[in-house]
Amino acid sequence: MPEPEFDLIVIGAGPGGYVAALRAAQLGMKVACLEKDKTLGGTCLNVGCIPSKALLESSELYAQARQKFADHGIQITGLSLDLKKFMERKDKVVKQLTGGIAGLFKKNKITSLVGSAQILPDRTVRLTGSENSDLTATSVLIATGSVPSVLPGLETDHQTILDSTDALSLSEVPRDLVVIGGGYIGLEMGSVYLRLGARVKIVEALDRILPGMDFELGETLLKILKRQGMEFQLSTKVKAASGQKGKGVDLSLEDASGTLTRLSADKVLVAVGRRPYTRGLGLEEAGIQVDEKGRIEVDEKFETSLAGVYAIGDVIRGPMLAHKASEEGIAVVEILAGQAGHVNYHTIPSVVYTWPEVASVGFSEEQAKERNIEYKTFKFPFLANGRALAMGERDGWVKLIADQKTDRLLGAHILGPRASELIAEMVLAMEFSASAEDIARTCHAHPTLSEAVKETALGLGNGALHL
Ligand code: NAI
Repeated sequence: MPEPEFDLIVIGAGPGGYVAALRAAQLGMKVACLEKDKTLGGTCLNVGCIPSKALLESSELYAQARQKFADHGIQITGLSLDLKKFMERKDKVVKQLTGGIAGLFKKNKITSLVGSAQILPDRTVRLTGSENSDLTATSVLIATGSVPSVLPGLETDHQTILDSTDALSLSEVPRDLVVIGGGYIGLEMGSVYLRLGARVKIVEALDRILPGMDFELGETLLKILKRQGMEFQLSTKVKAASGQKGKGVDLSLEDASGTLTRLSADKVLVAVGRRPYTRGLGLEEAGIQVDEKGRIEVDEKFETSLAGVYAIGDVIRGPMLAHKASEEGIAVVEILAGQAGHVNYHTIPSVVYTWPEVASVGFSEEQAKERNIEYKTFKFPFLANGRALAMGERDGWVKLIADQKTDRLLGAHILGPRASELIAEMVLAMEFSASAEDIARTCHAHPTLSEAVKETALGLGNGALHL
C-alpha cells in the first residue's frame, strides 16, 4: 500500500476544522483542509457569529444614540441610518477575518482545497470541485458543521420567509418582523431589527425563552426585552404560512390549548435550531454511523465507527457552539499526536449577545436539582455596582451556584453589561475547581463590573458588602 499523501485531511474550514488544521500543522503534521465554500471560516465567520456581532454592535450604537445619549446630556439632531453602509461595514469585518485564516493556512503550510468531499469506504477522500482528485491520509477529520432547521410548511423563500443568513443582509428594515423561535438567533437578530425601528414579535413554542439555560436568566431577560419593545407570544407553534413571495406573510398559529389564530408580517425569520450537515459525505456507504438526530456517533477520542475517521463540532453531540468545536478540534489532533487532548464539557460557556448580554457556564439551578445536588445560590444585582451605574446600566445580576457542603463552584449565570467577558473569570475558576470563597478572597479592581462577581461570591459566604 502506498504511503498516504497527508497525515490529516480536515473536511470543513469552520472554527472546528480550521483550528484543528492549524494545531495539527503546529504539531508537525502534513495537513490538507477541504472546504466547499470559496471563503474559509465556515458558518461562524461568514454567516453566523461574526457578522451578527458586527450588526449587534452597530445597532446598539444606533439605539444608544437614539435613546440613551440624552441621559448623558448629549443632544443629537438629524440622526439617520444608512443601512447600506451598516451592512458594508459588517461585510468588511467578515472579509478581514476570513482572509486572515487564508493567511494562517499559508503560514502553516496547510494545503487548502475548494470542493465537496466524499469519504470512500477505504477512507480515501474524493474531492469534487475546481479540481477533482482522490486524496489519502492517515486520519480524516469531519468538521462540516450544521445548517438551519426548516419547519415544514415554512420553507424559506429568502425574501419573505428568511433564515438566519438572509437576516444578515436585508436591504431595508422591515416594518413588522415575526421571529419564530426564542433561542439564540431569534433574540439576537430580533434585537438588531428592533433597535433599527422594526416592530418585532417572537413566537416561541415553549412557555419560556432561552430553553436550556438557567430559568431565571430567560425569565428576567424576557421582562427586559419586553420593556425595550420586543413582543412575545409564548406557548405558541407556527403551523403554516401563506402569502405571495415578496408581499408579506400570513401565519397560522396554534397555542397550547389548540386554539388557532392568525398573524401577518412583512418578513418572517425562522430560527428554530440547527441540524448537523453531512450531505454528500457518503456516511452510509462508508459505514459511518449517525444517531436519530443525524449526528455522527463518536467515541471519547472523537473516532467514528470507521477506523481512522474522526468528527468534531456541530456534526456530533453537544452544544452547537463555535468555541466547543474549536476545543474539540484541538483535542482530537493532540490525541492523534499521542498527547492527552481533552475537553471539559462542564466548563463550556454560552453567551447570548442581546443587551444586556446573557452568559452562562456549568449547572443551572434546574440541572443541579435534577442531579439531587445540595447547592446554595446567591444573586447580586448590577444596580448595586458602581461601574454599572456609571455606565447607565441598571439591569441584571450575577448568580452563582455552589455546592452546599464543599463550597465548590457548580455554575455561574450572568445577565448584564459585558456578561460575555465577565463569564471568562468564572470558566477559569471552575476549570481550577475553585470554591466561592476563592473568588470572594480574590482582589477585583475598583470600579469594575467584575466586582459584582466578587460580591456574589461573598454573598455565598459571609455576606455581600454592598447590599
Ligand atoms: P435554539 O435552539 O437556540 O432556539 C430555537 C427555539 O425555537 C427554541 O426556543 C425552540 O423551542 C423554538 N421552536 C422550535 N420549533 C418551534 C416552532 N414550531 N414554533 C415556535 N418555536 C419553535 O436555536 P437557534 O436560535 O436557531 O440557534 C441555532 C444554534 O446556533 C443554537 O444551537 C446555538 O448554539 C447557535 N448559535 C449560537 C449563538 C451564540 O453563541 N451567541 C448565536 C446564534 C446561534
